[in-house]
Amino acid sequence: MFRASLIITFDVSVSVSSFFRKAVKRIMAKKSIADVEVQGKVVLMRVDFNVPQDDAGAITDDRRIRMALPSIESVLKRGGKLVLMSHLGRPKGKGPEPEFTLAPTAVRLGELLKSPVAFASDTVGPDAEQKIKTLKNGEVVVIENVRFNPGEKDGETVYAGKLAGWADIYCNDAFGTCHRSEASMVAVPKVMVGKPKVVGFLVAKEIQYLSETLSNPQRPFVAILGGAKVSDKINVIKNLLSICDTVLIGGAMAYTFSLAEDGQVGKSLVERDKVPLAKELIGMAGDKLMLPEDTHCGDAFSSDCNKQVVASGKIPDGWEGLDIGPATAKKYADIVREAKTIIWNGPMGVFEMPPFDFGTQAVAKAVAESSGTSIIGGGDSAAAIEQLGFADKVTHVSTGGGASLAMLEGQKFEAVEILDEA
Ligand code: 3PG
Ligand code: MG
Repeated sequence: MFRASLIITFDVSVSVSSFFRKAVKRIMAKKSIADVEVQGKVVLMRVDFNVPQDDAGAITDDRRIRMALPSIESVLKRGGKLVLMSHLGRPKGKGPEPEFTLAPTAVRLGELLKSPVAFASDTVGPDAEQKIKTLKNGEVVVIENVRFNPGEKDGETVYAGKLAGWADIYCNDAFGTCHRSEASMVAVPKVMVGKPKVVGFLVAKEIQYLSETLSNPQRPFVAILGGAKVSDKINVIKNLLSICDTVLIGGAMAYTFSLAEDGQVGKSLVERDKVPLAKELIGMAGDKLMLPEDTHCGDAFSSDCNKQVVASGKIPDGWEGLDIGPATAKKYADIVREAKTIIWNGPMGVFEMPPFDFGTQAVAKAVAESSGTSIIGGGDSAAAIEQLGFADKVTHVSTGGGASLAMLEGQKFEAVEILDEA
């Protein structure tokens, strides 16, 4: 319901690039945290500290925290009192669930800032109240997971009013959550009538990179789309087919396309109910849409299974596709290396499980070698590019998985739209 109201459907007659040019203007017209006087003021900043953790609760990737540092430090250095709020994971929304506590993120932030960071064990309760009231200029407190309160998911105004009550200034620096309309993203700034509501540096940078790239791409413009499901990327594929020169498909979603071409997929992961849609996409794409020509498959989902490379659509019974094959990897890498603009979202295979990281690795290396502008979507593709050591050789790695996909679909973000114009 929420998504439907925000999706902008493009038909061929609509100028996509003019939409994105407007989007750039719009975001650049938003007031930024740098534009407000924060000395002695309480700044309520929505960040996305939804970071991956291992079973013991240790943070395995702190990129989202590091990427929020410019906004955080800007407030602290200028003598603001900073209250950070975020969600972590998907708790039930019925009170505290220890495995979803934000406490480890406060510790990690303290390490990055090289000074202790306070943590409040609630969001609108007595601990938050006491810790926020006693904040001194230049100090920061992280409050507990906003999704522990049912009002967060519901986008409810009573809860939002209480959160807003802490603050003189609202700042959205949670790019990874900008496609959500939860209370801390939308209702909170909405109730802060008459108070400054601004974007942080991370949100501004992410939206600017993505929208500028889409509105004014140097050509050839190549999109690489992978991951497990076609259903996650239907609108992205449709939108990108209308603006890119080539869309390369990898990952398990390639097997659903293979089924649409009457291929044999063995026991590969497929979405049978999406076959008609895959047929439709193949039909509308002409030769812009490239599908793998070979597949690296295994007889079990493990590194040490028996393996073989077969032509696409020729996966034997009892075998499953786990990566693009070497011929496809080479072909895709050649195309990517020559591209002047590259957008990548979703791995080409099971990159966490060598040797099925080969295709993702070949493409990542080609992205790193290309001289063009390269934007890597968040989530798995960001993890892959980091893990493979190429993160500093691309133009931009997004901190948002779902949010960057939403931008590639052409969605507008209410959470940004409602903030103050510059
Ligand atoms: C994400 O990791 O995608 C963001 O933090 C948003 O989380 P969500 O998908 O649970 O809303
Ligand atoms: Mg998500």
